[in-house]
Amino acid sequence: MNIIKSPEEMQCEALELKRAGKSIGFVPTMGFLHEGHLSLMRLARERCDVLVVSIFVNPTQFGPNEDLDAYPRDFERDEALCAEVGVDLVFYPKPEDMYAADASVWIDEESLSGVLCGESRPRHFRGVCTVVAKLFNLVLPDLAVFGEKDAQQLRIIERMVRDLNFPVKIVRGPIVREEDGLAMSSRNKYLTEEQRKNALGLKKSLVQVCELVGQGERNVSNLRSAMTQLIDDIPEAVIDYIEFVDDQSLHPVDSIEFRTLVALAVKVGSTRLIDNIVVSV
Ligand code: PAJ
Repeated sequence: MNIIKSPEEMQCEALELKRAGKSIGFVPTMGFLHEGHLSLMRLARERCDVLVVSIFVNPTQFGPNEDLDAYPRDFERDEALCAEVGVDLVFYPKPEDMYAADASVWIDEESLSGVLCGESRPRHFRGVCTVVAKLFNLVLPDLAVFGEKDAQQLRIIERMVRDLNFPVKIVRGPIVREEDGLAMSSRNKYLTEEQRKNALGLKKSLVQVCELVGQGERNVSNLRSAMTQLIDDIPEAVIDYIEFVDDQSLHPVDSIEFRTLVALAVKVGSTRLIDNIVVSV
């Protein structure tokens, strides 16, 4: 397994692979890898000749009061996990090599980014789109895999690829959960044992919605109340949002339709967790 730190070197290597007729699969990550990330790598592995994973805690997608400095990092462990999954190349750049000090060009998605996480994290998706576009230009992937865990991010990246004609196929990877149902996240590491147990309530509230919809409930305000009640009962939990939106436009819906995305963000203590599910009638 090859490790490349320099963006220029990464692009040269990708160009050489292309000239040799190899297909490139890509999984961008911020590291501190878990089974969720590894599942995306396995999906890509089956579909390409060369598998590239990037590990880069992207500063431009963190707000001023967010956890950029505290974000967990363990490159040696990540490297070993990548090798186990059969990654060919790890791209591990430094922030100062990725961004010129006077960088002034950004990618701003203007329709899907204003809601859900975009409301509480104003410039987050600008940072995500910009870094993903930069990574695509350096890695030159034929396909890239993104997780359903970050439902809004996935839809914004798909929109960016469509609207800017990136020659990349985006593949969706299902949410990977802990045995008890908590969605895997690098941020779960911040939770105390007690908070970790309580955080299960997020998944429970989504299961409850599925059950209620199964019993015929369609009214979003009733469903939201049921979820809010369940989460309000969790000690230390503060709801950031619970939204019911159309899966494609991310516009709010009043009643459950074909493919309604139910998405939530909840702070448990100081850790912000997200989860989602798509329900249909
Ligand atoms: P990160 O949070 O490290 O996630 C990298 C990829 O793993 C994303 O596509 C995310 O949706 C996916 N992922 C995380 N947890 C998952 C889970 N439990 N099940 C399935 N997939 C999961 O998302 C980012 O990094 C960054 O925003 C990035 C796209 C790398 C741009 O900086």
